[in-house]
Amino acid sequence: PMEHTLAVIKPEALEEHRDEIVRTIQEGGFVISQMDEKALSREMAEEFYKEHRGKPFFDPLVDYMSQSSSLMMILSKENAVEEWRNIMGPTDPEVAKEIAPESLRARFARNILQNALHGSSNQSQAMEKIQFVFGDITIGADGIVQ
Ligand code: CMP
Repeated sequence: PMEHTLAVIKPEALEEHRDEIVRTIQEGGFVISQMDEKALSREMAEEFYKEHRGKPFFDPLVDYMSQSSSLMMILSKENAVEEWRNIMGPTDPEVAKEIAPESLRARFARNILQNALHGSSNQSQAMEKIQFVFGDITIGADGIVQ
């Protein structure tokens, strides 16, 4: 069955590597079911990353994610959540370069904060974040938004 995940190309990566990242997504066999280029407000960034509230990197993360536009996407494919995480690679690009040198973060992340991309960690978080960004939408079996 088709699964959906929320993927984000973060501000600096969108400015510098948009085409290569979108090409990698398409070559990976994902359907981009929906996309929206927008800058998160500080309030939206705080809500989006509420799981990380209280961590030392939370304020820098909110600053970073509200600085300019990101590309928010719904990616659809069988096993999309895990597949997108594999294509991104580990959070920290230094780790990514060691264990997944072909991954997008190994190729494009600047550092552990400015790490180019986001992807949902599991299916329930994917549904929550898709609804947060895109509202109540229905995605058909073909990955197309109805
Ligand atoms: P993301 O996968 O979007 O989820 C949380 C984000 O917080 C992460 O990518 C990074 O941008 C950032 N992050 C996670 N861990 C750290 C850390 N140790 N130091 C700085 N930023 C971090």
